[in-house]
Amino acid sequence: MKSRLAWMSILLLSALMIGLGIASAAQAQQVLTPQEQLGKDLFYDQNLSLNNNLACAACHGPEVGYTGPDQLINLHGAVYEGSISGAFGNRKPPSAAYAGDSPILHFDTVAGWIGGMFWDGRASGDVLGDPLAEQAKGPFLNPKEQAIPDAQTLCQKVAASSYSVLATQVLGTLNCIDAATVSMVYNDIGRSIAAYERTLEVSSFTSRFDGFWDKAKMKGMDVTQISMVNWEKYKSLGLNNDQLRGLAVFNTKGTCSSCHTLTEGSAGYPLFTDFSYDNLGIPKNLENPATIANPSWADPGLGGYLQARGEPEAVYSTEIGKFKVPTLRNVDLRPSPTFVKAYGHNGYFKSLEEIVHFYNTRDVLPWPAPEVTANMNTAIGNLRLNKTQEQWIVEFMKTLSDGTIQ
Ligand code: HEC
Ligand code: HEC
Repeated sequence: MKSRLAWMSILLLSALMIGLGIASAAQAQQVLTPQEQLGKDLFYDQNLSLNNNLACAACHGPEVGYTGPDQLINLHGAVYEGSISGAFGNRKPPSAAYAGDSPILHFDTVAGWIGGMFWDGRASGDVLGDPLAEQAKGPFLNPKEQAIPDAQTLCQKVAASSYSVLATQVLGTLNCIDAATVSMVYNDIGRSIAAYERTLEVSSFTSRFDGFWDKAKMKGMDVTQISMVNWEKYKSLGLNNDQLRGLAVFNTKGTCSSCHTLTEGSAGYPLFTDFSYDNLGIPKNLENPATIANPSWADPGLGGYLQARGEPEAVYSTEIGKFKVPTLRNVDLRPSPTFVKAYGHNGYFKSLEEIVHFYNTRDVLPWPAPEVTANMNTAIGNLRLNKTQEQWIVEFMKTLSDGTIQ
C-alpha cells in the first residue's frame, strides 16, 4: 500500500513536471522583462498622442507584420494620418519588426551608406548608439504622428498612465520637471520600445522559411547556395517545389538576395536586408497627399537627409532618391487573402506580383516615369524572368510570414 502510494505520487509529480515543463517552454517566448513590457505598453498606448487617439500600433499593426494595417489607406495614398486630423506623413510605414540589427548609419567604401532607421536613415543612431531606440523617440513629438508638444508632456503622460508603477520601476522616479530627468526618461522610453521590438514577440522568426532554414542547417546544407541547378536537393525540408524554385531564382537570376540578403543576422536567421540604400526608380504614388499638394515634389530619400544634416553636395547628390532596403519578412502577412498591402517607400505597388513584375520589366515595358531618375540602380529592370519564374518568387516571399513554421 505504502509503495503504491509512493509510486502514484512519483507518477503525479512527473506528470506535473511535464505539465510545468511544457508551460514554461511555451511561455519562454512570451515572458517579457520589465523593460520590454514597458516598451509594449508604450507601443500600444493611444494616450501618448496629442488627441489621445493614436498609438504606434495604428501604423504598425502586428496582424500585417507591423506595417500599415488599414487596407483602404494601403490601396490609395498608403500614408497614414497622425493624431491631428488631416496631418499626413509622406511615406508608407515600413515594418517596425526585425529592424534591430540595423547598424549606426555609416559610409562603407564598398557598399555605400548602410544602416540607420527610417526609409532615409535619418534616425542614424549617432545620439543613442542604437538607431532603433533613437527612432522610437521620434513619432511622439512628430506633428504628423503622435504630435505631443514636448518630451516633458510625454513624461507626464507616462507618469499618469495605467502602467505608471512599471514605468517608475524601469525609468526611475517620474519627476517630469527638471530638464535633465525629462531627457533621461525620454531616452529610456526609446530604449524600452526598442527592447520590445527586439523580443521574440515582435520579431519571432516563426515563418515557414525559418523552419526550412533550421532543417537545412541541421543537415549541413547551405541555403544561401540554392540555385536552379541544385534546388531539388532541398526538397522535404518544408518548402514546396514552387517555393524552392522561387528561392532559387531569388538567389540567382532575380538578383534579389544581393540586397535582400540571406546572410544570418544576430538571431541566426536572415533578415532579407543588408541595410543599404538604392533608387529602384519606383514611380510616384499620385495619391500621396504630399504629391497632391505639390505635384512636382519628389522624395529625395537618403540624399535629402544627408543634405539636411549639412553634408557637402558631392556626398549627398549621389544619394538622392535612394531608400533603405526593407526586410521582406512578413511582406505577405495579412488578415485575409484579399486584404491589400502597399509596397515601396510610397506604397505605389499594391501586390507582390506587381512589384516583382516591375523589377523584371522596368526597362522594357512602359512603366510610369520614376519618382527620381537620378542615381537609379541599373542591375534590376530587365531580369528576363518568365511569368512562371515571377510567380515562383512571389510564392517564396509568402513563406516569410510569421506563425507558419512547420
Ligand atoms: C502616423 C503613423 C505612424 C505612427 C503613429 C508611428 N509610425 Fe513608425 N513609421 C511610420 C512611417 C511613415 C515611417 C517611415 C517614415 C520615414 O521613413 O520617413 C515609420 C518608421 C518606423 C520605423 C523604422 C523602420 C525601419 O526599418 O526603418 C520604426 C522602427 C517605427 N516606425 C516604429 C514606430 C514606433 C515605435 C512608434 C511609436 C512610438 C511609431 N513608429 C509610430 C508611421 C508611423
Ligand atoms: C539593388 C538592391 C535591390 C535588389 C537587387 C532587389 N531589391 Fe527589393 N528593394 C530594394 C529597395 C531599396 C527597396 C525599397 C525601394 C523604395 O521603396 O523606393 C526594395 C523594396 C522591395 C519590396 C517592398 C517591400 C516593402 O515592405 O515595401 C519588395 C517586396 C522587394 N523589394 C522584393 C524584391 C525582389 C523579389 C527582388 C528580386 C526580384 C528584389 N527586391 C531585388 C532593394 C533591392
